[in-house]
Amino acid sequence: MMTITKMLVGKVTDIDTRGSRTFRVNDMEIALFRLSDGEVLAVENKCPHKGGALSEGMVCGTKVHCPLHDWKIDLHSGVAMEPDKGCVVTFDVEIDPNSGSIYVTI
Ligand code: FES
Repeated sequence: MMTITKMLVGKVTDIDTRGSRTFRVNDMEIALFRLSDGEVLAVENKCPHKGGALSEGMVCGTKVHCPLHDWKIDLHSGVAMEPDKGCVVTFDVEIDPNSGSIYVTI
């Protein structure tokens, strides 16, 4: 059975707007993205195509462009945009409105 853990991973102000931060949990690297509207989203930092580091890609709206071959991954659903096919794991993110602390459910 999987254990669900809510982890404190930093503060909203640690991430530039349209930028990203990464952290590791066991063998997995997770990328946090801050969108231009302030929303923070978390996905596995591994493109479904050939494993490119999505955290190094360009954020455009709610998508990130993989830096290797420009697949566009929706950061809400983790799904690659047509005509490409694939999906990355997404994680629930909560932000404490008072402190700006970011919690990710792993
Ligand atoms: S590895 Fe991401 S598009 Fe190829």
